[in-house]
Amino acid sequence: MRVIVAGGTGFIGKSLCRELLLAGHEVAVLTRDATRARERVPQGTGITQWSPERPEGLLHVLSDADAVVNLSGESIAASRWTPEFKQKLVDSRVNSTRALVQAIRQATPRPKVLVNASAVGIYGDRGEEELTEASPPGAGFLAELAVRWEQAAEEAREADVRVVKLRIGIVLGEGGGALEKMLWPFRLFVGGPFGSGRQWFPWIHLDDVVGLMLYALQDDRVDGAVNAVSPGIVRLGEFCRVLGRVMKRPSWLPVPGFALRLVVGELGETLLWSQRVLPQVALRTGYAFRYPQLEEALRAVLAKA
Ligand SMILES: NC(=O)c1ccc[n+]([C@@H]2O[C@H](COP(=O)([O-])OP(=O)(O)OC[C@H]3O[C@@H](n4cnc5c(N)ncnc54)[C@H](OP(=O)(O)O)[C@@H]3O)[C@@H](O)[C@H]2O)c1
Repeated sequence: MRVIVAGGTGFIGKSLCRELLLAGHEVAVLTRDATRARERVPQGTGITQWSPERPEGLLHVLSDADAVVNLSGESIAASRWTPEFKQKLVDSRVNSTRALVQAIRQATPRPKVLVNASAVGIYGDRGEEELTEASPPGAGFLAELAVRWEQAAEEAREADVRVVKLRIGIVLGEGGGALEKMLWPFRLFVGGPFGSGRQWFPWIHLDDVVGLMLYALQDDRVDGAVNAVSPGIVRLGEFCRVLGRVMKRPSWLPVPGFALRLVVGELGETLLWSQRVLPQVALRTGYAFRYPQLEEALRAVLAKA
């Protein structure tokens, strides 16, 4: 397969490119900065510079591709979510998806499948409710953003393209993501849960996000929304206990919700959310998780870190 990976230079994209190459596929990333991309992506990855605002050259790139994976998006990890920054979060996802979909629709021959990133943020804060792919979206900025992001991807169906919207949870992997930020208080012996610790924490190992992407690219039965979360979901308090055990550090010092909001602003708010997300489609269609249990997942990440 020839696979085009937009935003393939990031935390998830680099791993995806590596696994695609190992599986014998041809891979090219779409990046806003080809020079920087060369230092990031594995050897053997093709590199094409693009601008989601000026997507004229895309048609040529996509015309001989079998599949497109879209991971583009400004990182949410900024401390202050100003109105301008929120607009950037939306535009970097919705506009890049629209540009790709427009080119996919015009391409001949056109790719058969689009795997588009989305996020469990689509469900909002839902307490004890079990959330499957059939659950309705929740409320709030991140939920509305994800709905618009998914709608933009859905437009590719007009051209008979299979569309998979991967609702990604909190990804645990070395060299990036939320875990890197959660580790430092534990290293300083002051780790513990945020807020009550009762909130459900929808984690997934990086290898399984990438595994699900490869699975979605190759299996026609995978279509529509797919929750990319581990079946071994835990509450945040339990997550911190296991992390402390694996790191041989204490894990009892809770960070109160108000302090978290004060330090990390709106992003901190999302860390207090409870999202009991279940990977129903992945399990029903037979995807075999490499890391269904948290302790093994954390041990694997920390052994590499
Ligand atoms: N990591 C997680 O836990 C997680 C959870 C849920 C959802 N997701 C979603 O999954 C996708 C990939 O996640 P990731 O962790 O790999 O993200 P990442 O490391 O931040 O990489 C995202 C890529 O998007 C491109 N990008 C950044 N800002 C952009 C902008 N303003 N306009 C267009 N493109 C931009 C960058 O590529 P270039 O600079 O090369 O163009 C970057 O390498 C993202 O859309 C993210 O929202 C991630």
